[in-house]
Amino acid sequence: MIPFIHKVLKFCGKYAVRIRIAFVFSFIKAMMIKAPVVLGFIAIPHFVNGTMTGTFCLRLAFGMAASVAVQIICTHVANRLQSGTGYLVMTDKRLQLGEHLRRLPMGYFNAGNIGKISSVLSSDMVFLEENGMIVLADIMSYLFSEIIMIVMLFCLDIRLGLVALVVLSAIMAITKAMRKSTIEDSSIMREQSENLTEAVLGFAEGIGTIKSYNMLGEKSQELTENFQKSCDANIAFEQHQTGWNRYLHSLYGIGSAAILLCAVALNAGNALATIMTVGMMLFVFDTFQPIKQYNGDAARLTIMGKCIDRINEVMEEPELPDTGKKSIPEAGSAPEIEFRHVSFGYGEKEVLHDISFQEPRGAMYALVGPSGGGKTTTANLLTRFWDVKQGQVLVRGVDIREVPLGNLMDHLSMVFQEVYLFRDTIYNNIAMGRPDATREEVIEAAKKARCYDFVMALPDGFDTVVGEGGTSLSGGERQRISIARCILKDAPIVILDEATANVDADNESYIQEAISELCRGKTLLVIAHRLNTIAGASRILVIADGRIVQEGTHSELMAEEGIYRRFVTARAGGQGWNRRKAG
Ligand SMILES: Nc1ncnc2c1ncn2[C@@H]1O[C@H](COP(=O)(O)OP(=O)(O)OP(=O)(O)O)[C@@H](O)[C@H]1O
Ligand SMILES: [Mg+2]
Repeated sequence: MIPFIHKVLKFCGKYAVRIRIAFVFSFIKAMMIKAPVVLGFIAIPHFVNGTMTGTFCLRLAFGMAASVAVQIICTHVANRLQSGTGYLVMTDKRLQLGEHLRRLPMGYFNAGNIGKISSVLSSDMVFLEENGMIVLADIMSYLFSEIIMIVMLFCLDIRLGLVALVVLSAIMAITKAMRKSTIEDSSIMREQSENLTEAVLGFAEGIGTIKSYNMLGEKSQELTENFQKSCDANIAFEQHQTGWNRYLHSLYGIGSAAILLCAVALNAGNALATIMTVGMMLFVFDTFQPIKQYNGDAARLTIMGKCIDRINEVMEEPELPDTGKKSIPEAGSAPEIEFRHVSFGYGEKEVLHDISFQEPRGAMYALVGPSGGGKTTTANLLTRFWDVKQGQVLVRGVDIREVPLGNLMDHLSMVFQEVYLFRDTIYNNIAMGRPDATREEVIEAAKKARCYDFVMALPDGFDTVVGEGGTSLSGGERQRISIARCILKDAPIVILDEATANVDADNESYIQEAISELCRGKTLLVIAHRLNTIAGASRILVIADGRIVQEGTHSELMAEEGIYRRFVTARAGGQGWNRRKAG
């Protein structure tokens, strides 16, 4: 219990002091709960001996009323302090977690952790917020009450206290075993909850593909199995709890009876006054009431511990180091982008080997090559989605690990193949490129990105809310909005993963115009698929199997035998980069 309280207090950070103060109020509350028992013991002799006076009755009544009033006040203060703390702590934790997630390498999100993050952010945090701290308040008052009960028994007769202590030890031993089983069960439950979240997200995200491949039955089956497993895990948890509770309830009864028996035996041996024995009879069955209530909440306490562990686990994931102190200088003689002997692998296996190139300011370099060759990976290293394993990536002569991420991002704009729009207005989706931009600037960017006309044709114009992921717009429209965002940002370096499919001819020409606007006066690194783009590049880097296998202008590369010429010839014949192996 002590390590658990410690864990909670540590988790609460600066709010721990509120919890500590709440414990004091819980303690006073516990004493007040037991005050009627004490008053009862004081009253019984007067009642039996006939010395009960009106004044004494009044004092008793006042004592009772005062204890109830103090109890109410303490409950209120303790609850306020603790439940309020729950919300404050979780607000801070959410912000901290958001900040932390922002700094994690992209690899963390790719490695199947989405279910975990969703479940931590939703169920775990909400559980702690709504239940956690209140449970803590109750648990503390139960524990204090139990201690007071045992101390009272010791005061009556040391032997009574000892019997109670023995029973309490047995209860605590069972509670410990129960906790162990609860921890195991709740781990399974949480793990299953993660699997379920992942399955539901996967199903929702892939519904289009699932339907088009007529896999609705198969995938629904998978989802149903996950629901069933969650249901089984929850039922197993409850069943195990019931088993343990049976033993505990038997012990509460047997324990109270043992104390009573001991009191009667002591009375028979004249060691305990009859009046006290009668008093005992009235209250003995309350002896283990607090620990009973404590155990009733113990399962929630265990889940709370697990929630804290899982939040801590995510918080402890190592962040992408962002300790750079330098800043990217004004454009000068140094190349705008430079890769120096860069090698990289997502895991153990190296996928980029010794990549080196220098791109001057204002140039447009095209990365081309077969699928899986390493083009996207190369672009991702420039954005620090991952860090290189060997070598250096430099912007204007500065290693990008030596500048703060924010400073690097100020210099980069990215247009991805897959555009993500937030469930927000079109205006806000564009304005996030530069949050301090004026409305005129946002609209100007939209015009340059050829968005203006189609946006104005929407019912609410720029205030139209797009669906999550931008689903209510066509692929080409989404792409143009993302380009408007980049135009507004106006970063000097643009990384462009050229869209290949799903765009009709009209949209394609609009996108081309939008891209030309975006790229005006910028340094460009394009993952290029279209011959037009490629031929217009100032330099082409052919990447295959993680290496730059050819390099030069379009005409230079066409003049030599190699993968590039074969690609262009094949492209003219209607094929693409369909061979993974370099020639
Ligand atoms: N997140 C990832 N985790 C592990 N391996 C990855 C990851 N992303 C890419 N790879 C692997 O790295 C290699 C290079 O992939 P990359 O995506 O850079 O190729 P690409 O040239 O962009 O291909 P495409 O033209 O199909 O987009 C491939 O072998 C790929 O399987
Ligand atoms: Mg790619």
